[in-house]
Amino acid sequence: MVEVLVTGGAGFIGSNFVRHALRRHTDWRVTTLDKLTYAGRRENLHDVIDDPRHTFVHGDILDAAVSGPLVARAEIVVHFAAETHVDRSILAAGEFIRTDVEGTFVLLEAARRAPRLRRFVQISTDEVYGSVATGASRETDELKPRNPYAASKAGADRLAYSYWATYGVPVVITRASNNYGPYQFPEKVIPLFVTNAIDNRPVPLYGDGGNVRDWLHVNDHCLALDLLIASGVNGEVYNIGGGNEVTNVDLTHRILAHAGRTAALITPVPDRPGHDRRYCLDTARLRALGWTPQVPFDEGLRDTVEWYRKNEWWWRPIKEQDPAFRSYYQAQYGRTT
Ligand code: NAD
Ligand code: DAU
Repeated sequence: MVEVLVTGGAGFIGSNFVRHALRRHTDWRVTTLDKLTYAGRRENLHDVIDDPRHTFVHGDILDAAVSGPLVARAEIVVHFAAETHVDRSILAAGEFIRTDVEGTFVLLEAARRAPRLRRFVQISTDEVYGSVATGASRETDELKPRNPYAASKAGADRLAYSYWATYGVPVVITRASNNYGPYQFPEKVIPLFVTNAIDNRPVPLYGDGGNVRDWLHVNDHCLALDLLIASGVNGEVYNIGGGNEVTNVDLTHRILAHAGRTAALITPVPDRPGHDRRYCLDTARLRALGWTPQVPFDEGLRDTVEWYRKNEWWWRPIKEQDPAFRSYYQAQYGRTT
């Protein structure tokens, strides 16, 4: 059996990846290491938590006594664990530096000494390139992160690279665009707007709504990671983009249409400070390995709206009872819902 360690596997992308990995790789034994912050939830793994090929460890990547031995016995590490929400990083950046930079450092130190390790996937982000006015970011472009989250991810991205260049750790770095799909925490724009729309509540659109994001279905992300675990070149960076560039206002109209609501719910609110105008990725390097995204955006968005409609058990307790969500929402939008 292949020993695979997934950090942050109780979060949005991590839990989708754990589910995908257990289904697709019957010779993998997967260990999830997750601190269960506000964003990490056992229920994200409800259908795989008791799988005989899956072990869940509740722990912090920063705790070398816990994370070290798990890295030491792994052949593959997929490192998702991070603080991930830009608006929270603007409110308070400390935890981003600790988890995203120092946490990655702790794992890389263990990876240096791990005898069986053949792949360490550092999950970075397209935000490290900063705002891209025209054209598409290539892996060789300069990094110009412009918010504390993006800067902490850029630090971790380059730290991982340095552990390949210096110590030969088999690192592959991925920079994905905005993911969407099931189990995404309802502070992020798609699940926030979808669940507000289901409840016929206003959707808070930042600034003029003209910011552009490229949307990637989480299942296409998982397929790209499979390919890079098998065929990525150590020390290389790979962009993973869905090729679906959409302005926020266009995205909002699409969500409202799928949810059966009108544009009357759109409520302009003050812009995010330092709000990156546009991200766009050149994905030629990944496509050359044989990957293309499979999920057409409107289909994926329709299915995602449907998932939130059918899975109120998952998001309603977060939005209506979780103190971490409600206090954040109050700080961000000036009201609790
Ligand atoms: P998420 O916030 O949903 O999940 C993060 C997970 O990490 C949670 O389960 C949390 O409990 C866990 N975690 C946080 N601190 C930890 C610690 N110290 N020790 C152990 N576990 C800890 O995030 P996500 O959206 O699934 O993102 C996963 C990764 O993908 C992140 O590294 C993020 O930067 C990257 N990424 C996300 C996107 C996106 O659109 N969501 C795009 C590109 C890259
Ligand atoms: O690009 C990849 C990144 O995508 C990941 O690295 C991050 O972890 C992830 O959070 C995401 O960052 P964004 O800032 O792009 O995602 P968010 O969902 O917060 O916002 C998407 C866009 O929607 C952005 O332009 C801001 C806007 N927005 C967001 C919220 C929460 C609104 O207009 N209103 C909102 O209430």
